[in-house]
Amino acid sequence: MQVDFDVIIIGAGAAGLMCAATAGFRGKKVLVLDHAKQAGKKILISGGGRCNFTNMDVEPNNYLCSNPHFVKSALSRYTQWDFLGLIGKYQVPYHERDFGQLFCDDSAKDIVKILISECNETENVHIQLRTDISAIEQNSDQTFTVATSTKSYSTTSLVIATGGLSMPKLGATPFGYKVAEQFGLDVLPTRAGLVPLTLHQEQKEQLADLSGISFPVRVESEDSTSFAADMLLTHRGLSGPAVLQISNYWLPGEKVTIDLLPTEDMEQVLADAKQNKPDQQLKTLLSQFLPKRFIEVLIDDKQLPDKAIKQLIHKEVEQVINTMHKWQIAPNGTEGYRTAEVTLGGVDTNQLSSKTMEVKNVQGLYFIGEVMDVTGWLGGYNFQWAWASGYACGQSV
Ligand code: FDA
Repeated sequence: MQVDFDVIIIGAGAAGLMCAATAGFRGKKVLVLDHAKQAGKKILISGGGRCNFTNMDVEPNNYLCSNPHFVKSALSRYTQWDFLGLIGKYQVPYHERDFGQLFCDDSAKDIVKILISECNETENVHIQLRTDISAIEQNSDQTFTVATSTKSYSTTSLVIATGGLSMPKLGATPFGYKVAEQFGLDVLPTRAGLVPLTLHQEQKEQLADLSGISFPVRVESEDSTSFAADMLLTHRGLSGPAVLQISNYWLPGEKVTIDLLPTEDMEQVLADAKQNKPDQQLKTLLSQFLPKRFIEVLIDDKQLPDKAIKQLIHKEVEQVINTMHKWQIAPNGTEGYRTAEVTLGGVDTNQLSSKTMEVKNVQGLYFIGEVMDVTGWLGGYNFQWAWASGYACGQSV
């Protein structure tokens, strides 16, 4: 059968656009379809409008995937330095923040402009927005037909780049998972990731007045994964980079343990205070390290004694050390897909080639980006996966 396009990509997001440009530069005739009015909507709002587009230090262990070796090949063939090469080609100004995170100086629009300019430069890529896909079929000669609200198109290679479920307001849909199921692939259970954790009513009320307060902590999940970064108290619960990171590892019913003073040794601090300022109130001492109102909440809740240092008995010293270094919280959930940055789970990577992203037993069908069971840490890792998997696929289609 004579096909209309060599490649059809569904999803004009980060992975889809990277794949389109890569295939276009190889002379492939590419059609990108998206139901949104604008390409790269998530890129535009990412990183507070400045897009944390990659990280200085990208390793496979920055990703969660039930098949942990899967990410290695693509990440090694399209690295953060390759993406920085693209940034350099367009002279987009950028800067590095904590933990090697790279952001645009001006606007995330620069990243979308780069991707679209690359697609245009190939002269082989057509991006068609505001297009609903009504059906996908594989024909007897292995080609695919994609039926849309206006027209049907045929193609040799079909790439699903429709992302995950986070932020439905931006056009996220379960489309990719449905296509996977249509072709008999397993979709691993999905849940919201990089998302604030919510608290039970009583604890939420205790901390309600502290909404907006942020301080550095180390948060640990029950599987002993931990992240040191800021934690933000919100009117719903806990957020900030440390909490978003740990949310990827937290499961309902589990506790998180928070070291409220990750750079101090509370035992030593108390010993020094007993020696030098025994009359000082414990709350005054602790207020040197943590917001005063937060300490007051812990005292009101009897998690800390309200005494002078010299009055603390052994058991109370233990309690202070425990509360400061091992503050336990039992979240009652997450804020869900409404505010989540990513979706954990998705198309099972065991069924995909790690080199090309093609489905092992469906010739010509590919999945790239967040739709698959690959989730990065906070810090530019999810875009780096979109670039790397999009590039790997674009080299193969
Ligand atoms: P992406 O979601 O980018 O694109 C999917 C495309 O498919 C969309 O254009 C959508 O409209 C389209 N689509 C969906 N369903 C469809 C259907 N049924 N029919 C047609 N089209 C359909 N990551 C990072 O590394 N650094 C950061 O700074 C941030 N910041 C950030 C902020 C916020 C608020 C969010 C929600 C997410 C982030 N992320 C991030 C995560 C990052 O945005 C995400 O991992 C990538 O965009 C995933 O790229 P994909 O191309 O896979 O999906």
